[in-house]
Amino acid sequence: MCGIVGYVGGQQAAPLLLEGLTRLEHRGYDSSGVAVLGSSGIKVAKQAGRVRDLADGLPKRFGGKVGIGHTRWATHGPANDANAHPHTDAKGDVAVVHNGIIDNAAALRRQLTDDGVDLVSDTDTEVIAHLVAHSEADSLEGRVRDALAVIDGTYGVAVMHADFPDRIVVARNGSPLIIGVGEREMHVASDLAALVRYTTTIAHLDDGEMATVTASGFTTYKQDLSSTHKQATTIDVDPDAYDAGDHESYMHKEIREQPEAAERVLRGRLDERFGTAHLGGLNMDARETRAIRRVKILGCGSAYYVGQMGAGLVEELARIPADAEAASEFRYRNPIIEPDTLYVAVSQSGETIDTLLAVQEIRRKGGRVIGLVNVVGSAIARECDGGIYLHAGPEVAVASTKALTNMFLGFALLALQLGRVRDLSVADGKRLIAGLTRLPDQIGQVLAREDTLAEIAAGLAEAESLFFVGRVRGFPVAREGAQKFKEISYRHAEAYQTSELKHGPLALISPEVPTVAVVPHDELTDRNVAALHEIAARRGPLVVVTHEDVDLGELEAVRIDVPRNEVELDPILLTLPLQLLAYHAATHLGHDIDKPRNLAKSVTVE
Ligand code: AGP
Repeated sequence: MCGIVGYVGGQQAAPLLLEGLTRLEHRGYDSSGVAVLGSSGIKVAKQAGRVRDLADGLPKRFGGKVGIGHTRWATHGPANDANAHPHTDAKGDVAVVHNGIIDNAAALRRQLTDDGVDLVSDTDTEVIAHLVAHSEADSLEGRVRDALAVIDGTYGVAVMHADFPDRIVVARNGSPLIIGVGEREMHVASDLAALVRYTTTIAHLDDGEMATVTASGFTTYKQDLSSTHKQATTIDVDPDAYDAGDHESYMHKEIREQPEAAERVLRGRLDERFGTAHLGGLNMDARETRAIRRVKILGCGSAYYVGQMGAGLVEELARIPADAEAASEFRYRNPIIEPDTLYVAVSQSGETIDTLLAVQEIRRKGGRVIGLVNVVGSAIARECDGGIYLHAGPEVAVASTKALTNMFLGFALLALQLGRVRDLSVADGKRLIAGLTRLPDQIGQVLAREDTLAEIAAGLAEAESLFFVGRVRGFPVAREGAQKFKEISYRHAEAYQTSELKHGPLALISPEVPTVAVVPHDELTDRNVAALHEIAARRGPLVVVTHEDVDLGELEAVRIDVPRNEVELDPILLTLPLQLLAYHAATHLGHDIDKPRNLAKSVTVE
């Protein structure tokens, strides 16, 4: 949450900082600000609202070739001008931008107030500026170190000081920070998206690491100021992948990219001869794989729901007991960590703090964790014992689509490999490989029905409240459908097991409350259809996501057919129309698709 940028070099910093912030806006968008350091000291411009408002209101004279910027997702204090970053000390000699949360901010604020400091914001970040200003160390590095020494919490932080006009000092503890190396200029950002237009030669800071960035280079060191000798490396990344191109939003682009994204996650991982998957990154041999007695999947939000789909795949294909749990709850119940359980952390960003802390809790207790992660080199990927990269490409929209699809496919590969060292037959392995190979094309077939789905979505958008229902394989699909719908349409969408309706929620069914039902062709089709009749009998409008050969009889319903695959792989094809329903409902309502209210792309605070 929140985005940080920084620049030191020969160009005017402000336009570069604003461009970088635009690219990071999905990480927080309730306020933004920039500070530049020029011949007359530090100048700050910051305000509530979007980066474009900040750019429009920037003073004419805002020169400086060193600068930092921030786009905020509020934690301490409301989204107003005063709470926007950068924060400064009383004299305006120090400017600070910060991602994360300072746990002892209240105590530090009290202490500063007692010392006569006039705090002008409600934020935790402001204390850093004052602490840096109060340090008597003779270098900026020493002053930042002194400030961080009294701080408990998480941070990615960038600091400028008028007395040290050639540099920015950055530090990381729990919030990502990347240094980008240019031609006699250097960039800093919390996310690659802000850097790739300028450079692909980068260095990631580790937790506990600091760096000094000047126009001519950077040095890294620990908080005791001993060098860590970090070198930059050049990464293979296509800067165009970070643009929305001709699409009206990133979410739309990312939905439409799913056939190619699905091909990428499967590429080179299917072994047709033995009917299995090759996942070298798991770092487990066959003996270790056979010893697994349980699989526990951890993720948040949509990653948790796709984790439930993944648990189903593992149980069906490998016959290993498996379940998924919200990573945000896991460590608070003092979980029992078993040596023969395989723990799986699933995350698009690889930064979600709850998932990261769950991984750390498991590893601290000696458990083995693998990651299903999209962002290469992210904190969760680095913390795990092994894993599967999802190769979905950059996902910018807050609502996850293509990464989620690739998570499902990652689970399918994992379940196939686990299954084939146990009791899954080679014939079944080959059947599933054939199914996986068909999937990218079938994904394209579902997406081709976008116009029809847009019409159905416009109708659903009128309802204040909706149900999404499904059973067994279909239930996590319904949960994900409801999640996507509420996230961007702001309608109340509640997921239920179809079988649970008559235990309570049926009381809410009425002509004003539509139900979106997931009804695959499987062993539960008849029971599902019977439950839909009960909804129809209470005049509840129905939209049914199903397969062509499912007979709905006389049921009055809007029907959305998706192609059939192998029954175990059907959930992902059933999920796709729900993405488009959410997308077009939100578009119909005129919402900002990529930046839904109150949310941010990566949830890096607890
Ligand atoms: C998905 O549409 C949501 N924005 C959200 O639930 C997300 O999936 C969750 O925050 C987990 O993010 P991660 O995959 O980056 O860990």
